[in-house]
This record gives sequence, structure tokens and C-alpha cells, in this order.
Amino acid sequence: MLLADLHINSIANVEIARRKMYDSFMLLTNDVPFSAKATSDFSELARHFAQAENKLVAHVSLKRDGQGRALDLDFVSQSKPAFNGMVAQQSEDGWHIARTYPVSANWVDQEIVNQVREILLLKSREELLTQNNDLLRKTMHDRTDSLNRLATEFGNIQDIDTLLHRLLEEVLGVFYCEAGSILMKEDGMLCFRHTVTENVDLTEKMLMADGKPLRFPIDRNSMAGTAAVDGLLVVKDAYNIPAIATYKFNQTFDNLTGFKTRAVISVALRSGQNELLGVLQLFNPHDPETREATEFFEDDQKLALHFARMASLAIERSSMTRTLVLRMIRLAEMRDPKETGVHVKRVSGVAKRLYVAWAKRRGLSQEMMDKQLNHLGLAAMLHDVGKVGIDDAILKKSGKFDPDERSKMEMHAHIGAEVLLGAKISLDDATRDIILYHHARWDGTGYPSHEQIVQTLEKLGEDTSNVPQPKGEGIPLNARIVAIADVFDALISKRAYKDAWAPEQVREEIAKCSGTQFDPELVELFVSDFDEYRKIHAEFQE
Ligand code: C2E
Ligand code: SIN
Ligand code: SIN
Ligand code: FE
Ligand code: FE
Repeated sequence: MLLADLHINSIANVEIARRKMYDSFMLLTNDVPFSAKATSDFSELARHFAQAENKLVAHVSLKRDGQGRALDLDFVSQSKPAFNGMVAQQSEDGWHIARTYPVSANWVDQEIVNQVREILLLKSREELLTQNNDLLRKTMHDRTDSLNRLATEFGNIQDIDTLLHRLLEEVLGVFYCEAGSILMKEDGMLCFRHTVTENVDLTEKMLMADGKPLRFPIDRNSMAGTAAVDGLLVVKDAYNIPAIATYKFNQTFDNLTGFKTRAVISVALRSGQNELLGVLQLFNPHDPETREATEFFEDDQKLALHFARMASLAIERSSMTRTLVLRMIRLAEMRDPKETGVHVKRVSGVAKRLYVAWAKRRGLSQEMMDKQLNHLGLAAMLHDVGKVGIDDAILKKSGKFDPDERSKMEMHAHIGAEVLLGAKISLDDATRDIILYHHARWDGTGYPSHEQIVQTLEKLGEDTSNVPQPKGEGIPLNARIVAIADVFDALISKRAYKDAWAPEQVREEIAKCSGTQFDPELVELFVSDFDEYRKIHAEFQE
């Protein structure tokens, strides 16, 4: 009984056929060593043929032989296969080599025969691709394309949580799946750090189980743990895991959320030094057109590995930048212990809130907002990083500056950008803008000068042909926001050179500087919500 003709027209196809043969042998014999041996025998033959001739057909049939049933393989190629030790027979339709493998002493159940046939006939997407299916080729191309586009975008995200969230949002589209999770290695455990599903409400619920992130040990008892240990795990049905598997499916999430987990790919995320960072999991693939539940195909596995490498790189970069930035801030703090530490956190907190108010008024999408916020948070903390380049005598002076001291201090804005450049921290636009422009004034009388800004931007390798005057909207929004946050903090706190002001006085001063020092629209938003900003200030105390 002929089960299938496997058309093998490339070495890649040998690999596909090999996996089909393995699954078939396993179904027919349930004997791992035998299946492995027979399969490698098969692929060796097929490889020889494929090298000799790129049109090879393997007829696979099930035969009754003397002892019971046997799987019969008949390879046919059009030219004589060029290898030794194997004699090919010529007949009308080409050169043949036949192999027979006993698979059962008894009758093989029809159900199993059908399954084997299905496996052999089922075309993987990969296989269709090698057969020049333009539509699928395009799909695959699009998917790879969007991955590469993402690589660039992810490279620019410095905040790790935003990064993970964005990664997962993309996962749903790229893999046509219902949910994705990232578990990060924390304290020797795998912790669910982010989950995204197609259903937004579900996403919210899935972040926590009983108020705690779910954790798994790094061992082969869970799917995620198994992937962490072995690199990759593909599960067809979480509720139907083979009895021999070491892992079990933890149903906590499904029970809590009503999500029904089915097929799962889990991939380890590893650093360049091969250190485990975490695990990426993809759940429940479906057909993008009909939305019918499907399995993960071969190319999904490949894509998942590709995606994981990319995600690991981005995660690593983001935590590296973060580490470097925090180190810079600590350095600045050592120079200026009384003021720097909490000051930068408060400025960051205030700036983020002010940005949200501004974005909401403009009706910006949540996505845009999240993207911006992520840059702003760290960048605002760095606004005064250039102070590390200022002499102690000036930095720590308890009285008023003289004009010379004043002008030296003013250098911190443009030095800042150059200091980071020297530290080889790649500056995103927001960070560069904030450092460079946070002392620019709305009326154009702040610092650095236009000339100084152009000079610094040149050193940073930017195009300087169109740099606007640092005035009004020529000052980047992020910097206008941080300017208010910075001055608010300077006034409401005690400084070496000044006492803390009463809150009402601070509010009046900021309102008074609308249109001269500050952007009027931002002042309005700030002043009308003043008490909330005071709360942020109160949260971070020395
Ligand atoms: P800082 O203490 O964080 O102050 C940040 C900014 O708050 C100041 O930038 C200034 O724009 C604003 N600011 C401070 N006092 C007032 C005020 O009375 N009214 C208004 N509208 N804004 C005010 P600036 O002036 O460029 O100073 C930059 C940094 O230089 C300050 O950061 C502080 O570390 C230092 N600094 C400035 N003036 C003096 C001074 O007279 N003596 C000492 N020892 N340090 C000073
Ligand atoms: C696992 O076993 O990997 C965890 C199950 C889940 O992802 O919900
Ligand atoms: C998840 O919670 O991470 C995905 C869905 C599930 O495993 O139940
Ligand atoms: Fe400053
Ligand atoms: Fe400051």
C-alpha cells in the first residue's frame, strides 16, 4: 500500500523528509533506537541522491512481508546516483534503491496507518516554500522583514519593561499566535515578567497570580524551565503532554484567567556570553486568514529562535545601557552627594507626569505615550550628568556664584552630551536633547548658545545644517518639560546656595516665568496639577 511520495529536491527537503520518516517510524514501532537508526539510514541515502540529482522521489509504502508488516522505501532518481557501496538498479522510470524496514510482527492498526500517511503527506510551510509558492514566500519574507525592522526599533529602547512589552506585542503578529510571555531570570528563578494576549483584559489579569508574579525553578519540571535548560521546547497540546515528558503544564494561569493554553513554543533567551536571561513563550498559533487553531510549524521554530536571539541582544543592550546610565548617575552623586541622587529621581518623576498631561491633551495614543515615556524616564535622570565635569569648588559652593563661576557651571549642559559620547553610550534623541537643552529658555535667553549647540551636535556626528535657535518650539519638547521639572525641584528643595521655598511661592514663581523661562502650555498644565507634583517630590526624600 503506497503511503506517500516524498519529493526531495534540495538538501533542505532531506531534513524535512527525515523528520517525517522519524515520526512515521515512531508511530509504527514506538521504538526510539530503531526509529533513529532507520531514519539516519534514510537521510544518508536521500542525501546521496539529492547531491547527485535534484529530483528525487522516495516512494514510501507499507508492505506485508514474511514476518508481518514492513515499511518499504523506494528511492528513484533520474541519473545514476554517484556513490559507492550501494548498487542502484536501472528501470524505466529511473535509478532505484530500495530499503525495507520491518515495523510490526502484527497487523498495524488502520488508525496508525492513516496517521503515518497524514504525516508524510502534510506539507510544512517550509516545504511549500521550497516549491516556489510565491504567496507563502511573501509571507515568510514579510515576517522576516518585520523582524528585522523590529531589531532596529528594539535597539533604541532602553527601558527594559517597555522593551519586553513591545517585543511581545510584535510576537502576536509575527507568529499568528494568541499570547506571548517573557519570563526573566531573577534570583535563580524564572519569573513571569510580561504577558501580552490578543485580549487586552486578559493581558491585565495574566500579569499576576494572586498578586504575585508566577515563578518557576530552572529545571525540567515546567515547560519554561525545560526550555531554559534545553534551549527550545515545542508542545503541541499543553493538556495532552506525553507521559514520558519530565515537565508538566502549570494550569494556574488558565484557571485564573480562562485562557485555554494549547500549543506552546518556549525558547531560552541567552546573552552573548551564553548566560541565561529568561524564556520567551508563544501560545496558540492560528491561521491568519481563517483563524482556525493551527500548530507551530517548522518555520515558526526557526523564526522563534531568530526572534529570541534578537530579543536577547536587545534585552542585553538595554540592561547594559541602564547599568551604564545608573553608574554615571552614581558617579555624579559621588561628586555632589547632597543634591544629585534624589534630585534626578524627582526630576524624572515630575517630567514623566508632565509629559503624560501634555500627551493626553493632544490625544496621543497610549502606544506613542509609552514609547516616549520610556525614553524620558532615564533621560531626565541624566539631565545634569555634565556636572561630573565641573570643579568641586564650584559644584559645592555654598554661596552665590560670581560671573566666572556661573559661566563655568553653564558648561555642564554641553559637556554632558560629550561626556556620554566619551563613555560610548549611544545617546537616543531624548537623552541628547534633555542634556543639551534643559537650560534653554522659552524666550531664547538661556544656555548653551546656538553656536555651542551646533558645535556639540557636530561632535556627536549629527547633521547640523538645520538646527533651530534654542527658543520657543525650537527647544525640543522633552527639554522644555525637564526644564520645569528641574527648576521646580531646585526651588522646592534646599540647596547649598539657597533655602527651600514654600510651595505656594514655588507655584507662583513657575507661573510667573511662563513665556519667559518656560513653555506657557506646559506651565499651565503644571500649575493646574501642582499638588500632584508636590506629592512626587515628597515621595523621594534623602
Ligand atoms: P539647580 O540648583 O538644580 O537649579 C536648576 C535651575 O533652577 C537653575 O539653573 C535655574 O534655572 C533654576 N532656578 C534656581 N533658582 C531660581 C529662581 O530663583 N527662579 C527661577 N525662575 N529659576 C531658578 P541654573 O541657574 O542654570 O543653575 C544650574 C545649576 O548651577 C544649579 O542647579 C545649581 O547646581 C548651580 N547654581 C546656580 N546658581 C548657583 C549659585 O548661586 N550658587 C551655587 N553654589 N550654585 C549655583
Ligand atoms: C510552563 O510550564 O512553562 C509554565 C506554564 C505557562 O506558561 O503558563
Ligand atoms: C500566560 O499566562 O503566560 C499565557 C497563557 C497561559 O499559559 O495560560
Ligand atoms: Fe542643569
Ligand atoms: Fe538639575
